[in-house]
Amino acid sequence: MFYKIVTAQAPVNIAVIKYWGKAVEHLKIPINDSISGTLSTSELSTTTSAALSHEFEDDKFWLNGTEQQLDDLSPARRLLEEIRLLSKNETNLNISHYKIHIVSVNNFPTAAGLASSAAGYACLAFVLGHLYGITELRRLSTLARKGSGSACRSLFGGFVQWHRGEDSESSIAEQVVDEKHWPKMRVVICVVNDSKKDVSSSIGMARSVATSKLLALRSKYIVPDRVNRIKEAIFNRDFEEFAELTMQDSNQFHAVCLDTWPPIFYLNDVSRAIINLCSRVNDYYGKKRVAYTFDAGPNACLYVLDDFVDTFISLITEFFPEPQANKLDVRGLAYKKSNTTELVSHLKLKNIDSLPNSLKYIINTSIGRGPKLCESPIASEHLSICKSTVS
Ligand code: DP6
Repeated sequence: MFYKIVTAQAPVNIAVIKYWGKAVEHLKIPINDSISGTLSTSELSTTTSAALSHEFEDDKFWLNGTEQQLDDLSPARRLLEEIRLLSKNETNLNISHYKIHIVSVNNFPTAAGLASSAAGYACLAFVLGHLYGITELRRLSTLARKGSGSACRSLFGGFVQWHRGEDSESSIAEQVVDEKHWPKMRVVICVVNDSKKDVSSSIGMARSVATSKLLALRSKYIVPDRVNRIKEAIFNRDFEEFAELTMQDSNQFHAVCLDTWPPIFYLNDVSRAIINLCSRVNDYYGKKRVAYTFDAGPNACLYVLDDFVDTFISLITEFFPEPQANKLDVRGLAYKKSNTTELVSHLKLKNIDSLPNSLKYIINTSIGRGPKLCESPIASEHLSICKSTVS
């Protein structure tokens, strides 16, 4: 029988001003602030359950049904031990001696290369914190950060700033606006057909810090101003400014990757075709209708306002069709196919070509809330189902 069990769900976040580079490697203190949008958990989330029992002989951790090593060097082990120590010193729960079983599952394919580690470590910190009596979000944010830097932003909904800070306590995320502030904002994710193994974010950013002069300039002279300007754009719901800064920052992050020695390539031909398409679409309308951003991989995250989502997804399905079914799999929020004939002929005149079979699927989602606890019946069911998949 369980002595205590907690389950929670946490969101993915997509940066619009990127975190790239650590000032203190082992504590994951970044070289600059970053800003992100938190995505709705309906389409992308991690659910984690953690249970204590005197019947458990060891600490154990399953991720998507596969048991993970909880050795001393693993971030999950370090997170667990840090929270146990805090619980021992700061609460009178007296439960740090119980062994723990943790199960964590993503509601989206992990292989798709979406930001699963941010949701994963945010969820782990949130669940362990609530299990061991440490519930202040600011502290959970610093704890999640040590698992994976960008995870600290997934502790909050809406738009979020990660303050670089001076030390481990002050390097912390804070909500800029909540998820209700800009209800028209949508996020369309194009999952690119690509099976190549990329350079991981941690390795890539360490290499950039060591070799890219552009990164040093960016973090010191460019990001601080962009952070202030994009926050202002978010407060004012100014899509024009928001979109321009988002695209410029994504471009600069990938320019840093190219400036890294040896260089790193996260974008591929499909990513570049999407960038080109977005630029032409914005030109056609004479204003920003879509903002692209790319993380450490070829998948495109497109910030779009709700009145343009149907047209934009219709356009993507037109240019990146799945030839067999002659349509592309669109997941998440409903969309209505709309007439794009005029826009398509304009783009074709501008030499934008179609790239059949280059996208796996599209996710149509919105800005959402931070982590939340789930009801206890779900918790025990979750734990037993997730464990039984492997035993
Ligand atoms: C490109 O948070 O995955 O997505 O701190 O080493 O775990 P570690 O890196 P991670 O890096 C994310 C980098 C990024 C940009 C961003 O999310 O801000």
